[in-house]
Amino acid sequence: MKTISVFGVFVADLCFIANAIPEKGQTILGSQHIVGPGGKGSNQAIAAAKLNGKVNFITKIGNDKNGEMALNLYKSLGMDVASIIQDKNHSTGVAGIMVNEKTGDNAINIIPGAAGTLTNDDIEKNLNFIANTDIFLTQLETPYDVTKYALTKAKENKLTTILNPAPACQINDDDFKLIDFFTPNETEAEFYLNKKIETEKDIKIASEEFLKKGIKNVVITLGEKGCYFANNKENFFMNAFKFKEPVLDTTGAGDAFNGALAVGLSKDLDIKEVLTFANKVAAISTTKQGAAASMPSMEDLKNY
Ligand code: RIB
Repeated sequence: MKTISVFGVFVADLCFIANAIPEKGQTILGSQHIVGPGGKGSNQAIAAAKLNGKVNFITKIGNDKNGEMALNLYKSLGMDVASIIQDKNHSTGVAGIMVNEKTGDNAINIIPGAAGTLTNDDIEKNLNFIANTDIFLTQLETPYDVTKYALTKAKENKLTTILNPAPACQINDDDFKLIDFFTPNETEAEFYLNKKIETEKDIKIASEEFLKKGIKNVVITLGEKGCYFANNKENFFMNAFKFKEPVLDTTGAGDAFNGALAVGLSKDLDIKEVLTFANKVAAISTTKQGAAASMPSMEDLKNY
């Protein structure tokens, strides 16, 4: 089985649950407040670890209570915490998450905190955690130049790279060639191509445009509609899983998908099997509250 390194952000998610997401200028009375582990990189690393992936996670946290929450979680999953940088001068990041309990939809504002101060030097010091693995997974919550540096190092060391471009931010044209698997959702794909993506035809054309940019494999995630895969040899849609359990909270569903994608690739499964697995993991995560807390284990998968 191949090994995985994840680079990204840990934050404490402050979740506010109510029967709606407040609109501009509106105050609403919520029903629940939960504080739990979040941050896309951390969620993806945890998803992979819970699915028995061999994974390490590179990030920066503060020397505070939220940082302790992160370390305790990684240790409880048997993850090596030597790649977690603790910084005395910055606080662990936080995210404010509004969740609609009727639909599971959310709105997120993230402050990366200590992880926002990650540098190329931090990558250099932790290069062994990347170089000794086979698959590199990252997102866009860390500073762009550092993420690009990490991707470059991963490619130099012949890893398969996955970029989950979330939250969407400018990617230099020259950097697309660093990406083996690109996993935007529809909104992120629209951002990169600067046009609306509404129909199946739009999705296919969008994927072709991403491939022309130098990306090797494109996976556009489509929420409750599943996902679309394309590379230069094949392309197909894959339906999402639907369970009898209701959708409670979609926070972290994309992270569940990306963590599972990395694990599927680490097992050298056929791409259709990999995406079926990732779709299932993502769908299960929506039936549970929270981000990292909603990541299913292999045991959970058998029950769905
Ligand atoms: O993808 C969900 C995550 O996005 C949340 O956990 C939040 O922290 C933000 O990073």
